[in-house]
Amino acid sequence: MNILILGSGGREHAMAWKLSQSNQNINIFVAPGNAGTSVLATNIDIDPMDFTLVKQCAVSVNADMVIVGPEAPLVKGVRDFFEADDELCSIPVIGPCRKGAMLEGSKDFAKDFMVRHAIPTARYKTFTGESVQEAEIFLRSLNSPYVLKADGLAAGKGVLIIDELSDALIELREMLGGRFGDAGKKVVIEEYLSGIELSVFILTDGISYKILPEAKDYKRIGEGDSGKNTGGMGAVSPVPFATPEFMAKVEERIIIPTIEGLKKEDISYKGFIFFGLMNVNGEPYVIEYNARMGDPETEVVMPRIKSDLLDLFTGVAAGDLDSRDFEIEESAAVTVMMVSGGYPDEYKKGKVIRGLNNVRESLVFHAGTHEHEGDVVTSGGRVLAITSVGGSKEEALAKSYASAAMIDFEGAYFRRDIGFDLK
Ligand code: AMP
Ligand code: GLY
Repeated sequence: MNILILGSGGREHAMAWKLSQSNQNINIFVAPGNAGTSVLATNIDIDPMDFTLVKQCAVSVNADMVIVGPEAPLVKGVRDFFEADDELCSIPVIGPCRKGAMLEGSKDFAKDFMVRHAIPTARYKTFTGESVQEAEIFLRSLNSPYVLKADGLAAGKGVLIIDELSDALIELREMLGGRFGDAGKKVVIEEYLSGIELSVFILTDGISYKILPEAKDYKRIGEGDSGKNTGGMGAVSPVPFATPEFMAKVEERIIIPTIEGLKKEDISYKGFIFFGLMNVNGEPYVIEYNARMGDPETEVVMPRIKSDLLDLFTGVAAGDLDSRDFEIEESAAVTVMMVSGGYPDEYKKGKVIRGLNNVRESLVFHAGTHEHEGDVVTSGGRVLAITSVGGSKEEALAKSYASAAMIDFEGAYFRRDIGFDLK
């Protein structure tokens, strides 16, 4: 069986690793992949946003299944593209159609969807350049801090959380004035929710779903959750406050209404849903939906799935996910992200990474690497996700930190406090 994964990060490497353990005989292709995926798969250097090239690639490798890692091709409609093409329509795609991906691609659509289906989320209103005055009135009616969100995809930079009303008013005018281009033509203003965040994931065939291991992501660059936001500096699974009681509320109030809502609205959804949740005094609220897995969360979720991932994907494609075996490992998994010096601001690329072969006790998922003249070199801000599994979070963290100490590249930085806030 030939599997084509679209994407190039730690998420895609972790999925390729998990798929490579399948009992079935498979060849994995990753487009474009990275230096890590090239060890267990064949990389194909194309841009997943160029659907003409994606088609050529799927045809040339004789793909039996396509798995879409990042959101951008989903929001652009890669699934719809496959379904509409005579040569591609028989190839199952793991990832929602364009309409389903709007749960991530438009904050306004996602908020409206939640209101239509009574899914708990922060109170909000959406505004455009024509309704600046109403937007200001709504903003003034809320309390600090103020939450402003560009409607469309903005590479993780479209959410602003601002303490002072005067600053929020300035930002609001700038956003509606076009600072985020098309993504910011509409702005969602919402109430601030105070609590602790976690990421919950499901895999669905549009009929039933499996709840994957939950995870906590560490988004800030600095220790103690300080400094700028990043794509994610580490992750931990399980999350101690995701008790059975809390998860029952998540399933009943959020997961089931989301699946039922998609069905009612005739949105065929076959893929992952990532619920970015806030736990507000034990009550779950949706902060955001994503139409894909999280990164670096995938790097801790995959090692905790005991079942065959390919079998689950086959169930998604066939619409019989309900009948597929699904078991989770009791163990703890953690990942510590090694990043380039300067990230999330400017950083240098092309730094030679040394010591990768010395690591024994961890899985090193590559996030931003490529091969250059026989060396593995850095090619992104987030470079390596050092992932470990253990009987406890502490045991797993000790392994990841010992492994990180064996790896070196100029300017390497990682947080030494991943998991610090969890008992
Ligand atoms: P998003 O891109 O929607 O995930 O937002 C980025 C981050 O902003 C989230 O992970 C939260 O930490 C924070 N955030 C977003 N919306 C809210 C809210 N209503 N209340 C508190 N924090 C929020
Ligand atoms: N780690 C958060 C995300 O993937 O959006």
